[in-house]
Amino acid sequence: MLKSAGTTPKLDIEKIKSDFPILRRKVHGKRLVYLDNAATTQKPKQVIESITKYYENYNSNIHRSVHKLAEEATEAFESSREQVSRFINAASPKEIIFTKNATEALNVACRCISENSLKKGDKIVVTEMEHHSNFVPWQQISKRIGCEFDIVNVDEEGILDEEDFEIKIKNAKVLAFTHMSNVLGTINDAKKLTKIAHREGAIVILDGAQSAPHLPIDVQELGCDFFAFSSHKMLGPTGVGCLYGREHLLLEAPPFILGGDMIKEVHREETKWNDLPWKFEAGTSNIADVIGFGEAIKYLEKVGMERIKEHEQAISQVAIEELSKIGEITLYGPRQHYNRGAVFSFNVGKIHPHDVASILDSEGIAIRSGHHCAQVLMEKLGVQATSRASFYLYNDLDDVFALCKGIRRVQEVLS
Ligand code: ALA
Repeated sequence: MLKSAGTTPKLDIEKIKSDFPILRRKVHGKRLVYLDNAATTQKPKQVIESITKYYENYNSNIHRSVHKLAEEATEAFESSREQVSRFINAASPKEIIFTKNATEALNVACRCISENSLKKGDKIVVTEMEHHSNFVPWQQISKRIGCEFDIVNVDEEGILDEEDFEIKIKNAKVLAFTHMSNVLGTINDAKKLTKIAHREGAIVILDGAQSAPHLPIDVQELGCDFFAFSSHKMLGPTGVGCLYGREHLLLEAPPFILGGDMIKEVHREETKWNDLPWKFEAGTSNIADVIGFGEAIKYLEKVGMERIKEHEQAISQVAIEELSKIGEITLYGPRQHYNRGAVFSFNVGKIHPHDVASILDSEGIAIRSGHHCAQVLMEKLGVQATSRASFYLYNDLDDVFALCKGIRRVQEVLS
């Protein structure tokens, strides 16, 4: 049991906090307690400065001109790709495609697979805990092609029903699932599920939007074929996502968006695609923000992903204990602090989640309320919406206590 208020034993939170200018501001005259990290994270000064430095010193388009600025910009952009590749242990930077967000990355994966490998009657499997970004593309492609679309159940604790999975995965051609639920915090055993899916001959797409920021990721160890994630959920800027894909699958797949930079040769009748990964990066990329993303990854690596994971587990342990002490609270998701993310969805009696979020905001506490882009899961939980508090490396136990105090204040105000 962790006794100290404030920091957990794993990280020097005060030092980390001092890197995030926004955390010094007040909201409604109160200390900002930022607990909306599953929606987007704050940016350290190192990331902000890397973007300013780019615009002030070497702003230029990449892969095209031969002048000095273009050379420097291309080098910085491609070195971000190498950084990302190492971060998730891809076999090669060629397997890293920059997109505008995780949603686009999942759509590119869906398009690649559907054009190449799917036909009428094939089975696509997803789960009830998917974000709309990893649900709607598969649902819609199933309708278009005439595929069977199966949804694996989630049990009462918010854990994937393995028996149901074993049944539904039989003869599947595609398995698309989340590594960590953005609502429940559940971490799926991606390696095990991938192995079972591969045994059936399915291609596996893992949504890592919530896991890559919080856990050490090794795509080769996980064994998935595609892995999608997003810069802004891991201290980087918005407007940059990433799709990892196995090289042979990317080589076989047709490009999704056509135009400049993704071609090698264009003739009147024929076009030859560029090499990987540029075949999938048509048009001018979000250069500054990709460079900022590389800086965010450097920051995370310096702190250490293993330590971030342990820090968040320590926060989860206290959060589960403290939230459970509050009367009339319904807490969704696994009750064990280990092997779950520090994302807590809850409802407070019959109080509407938007009212909970508004009163917490007046106390300086930022959370999200709503359906969290997971309406199929909301339906399963039997609610329209929840309140959600999500933690990151700059949060500490004081933030957990502030949240619980804030929820008690909500109850006082509205009961
Ligand atoms: N996917 C993000 C969330 O869960 C936006 O809030």
